[in-house]
Amino acid sequence: MQVITIVQTKGGSGKTTTAMLIASAALDAGRRVTLIDGDVNAQLGRWRDSFDLAAWDGPKKPAWPDALSILSPPDSVQGLLSLLESEEAAGTDLVILDTRPGTHADTEDFCLLSDLVLIPARPVYAEWEMTHRAALWMDDLRASIAAGERFPEVRVLVIDAGPKIIDAATRDGGMSLLPKRDQDVLMEILRLDHLDVIVPHSKILEQLGFHGPLGPAAAANARAPGGRLMAEAITRQLEVAGLVLAGIDEVIPR
Ligand SMILES: Nc1ncnc2c1ncn2[C@@H]1O[C@H](COP(=O)(O)OP(=O)(O)O)[C@@H](O)[C@H]1O
Ligand SMILES: [Mg+2]
Repeated sequence: MQVITIVQTKGGSGKTTTAMLIASAALDAGRRVTLIDGDVNAQLGRWRDSFDLAAWDGPKKPAWPDALSILSPPDSVQGLLSLLESEEAAGTDLVILDTRPGTHADTEDFCLLSDLVLIPARPVYAEWEMTHRAALWMDDLRASIAAGERFPEVRVLVIDAGPKIIDAATRDGGMSLLPKRDQDVLMEILRLDHLDVIVPHSKILEQLGFHGPLGPAAAANARAPGGRLMAEAITRQLEVAGLVLAGIDEVIPR
């Protein structure tokens, strides 16, 4: 079983979207997924409710996948440990912990029980400071652990990137088209340990609460008359999600 904690030092940084994206890819790969929402706003915890309440006109809304559970976090490390044990025993393949903003001790406990800590990072000047802080926080946490003790892998995931940033990161000469300070931020982020995939800015990802997990949403749209374009747009994001999952599997093999 793989356990991932998603951290950032401020809200609105793409943690929950990242959790939903990875869950979508894992479900699509036939895995059993459990999401644990450690954020006070419980946006992830309400994913199923927001999906159930969403009014889809056109395609028939698919059933919520049996392989996807959402739980609230236990209030102690011991509780989390036994929850992870029972998930493992129940055949869960992947647990994703979403966390609240800020550098809290309970988030550190989540991290220490995980195989991977993922830091979503928007490659924009205004958000570099918080990404930097999150990376330093994890360095400090690593330094506080006794030598020889297990520490999770830590990776940054570049998210919510516009086409210029994707060009800059992936195409020769693309960097020069970015304003200088965005270049600097992108280069700082890419100097951190990161997954080798960029999650684009996308309307579909902005509306994951509405669409629900991407695989069922793509299939439902593909079946609906006139739903082909939407199905294709969702499928493109599911492909990105698959690349993120492949990157994760490389870092923490199953
Ligand atoms: N790749 C993306 N494309 C478009 N919007 C995004 C993307 N990633 C995040 N967002 C948007 O950014 C906002 C904050 O993201 P969210 O995942 O809720 O952050 P957090 O959980 O850290 O508070 C949301 O409105 C979300 O839809
Ligand atoms: Mg959130």
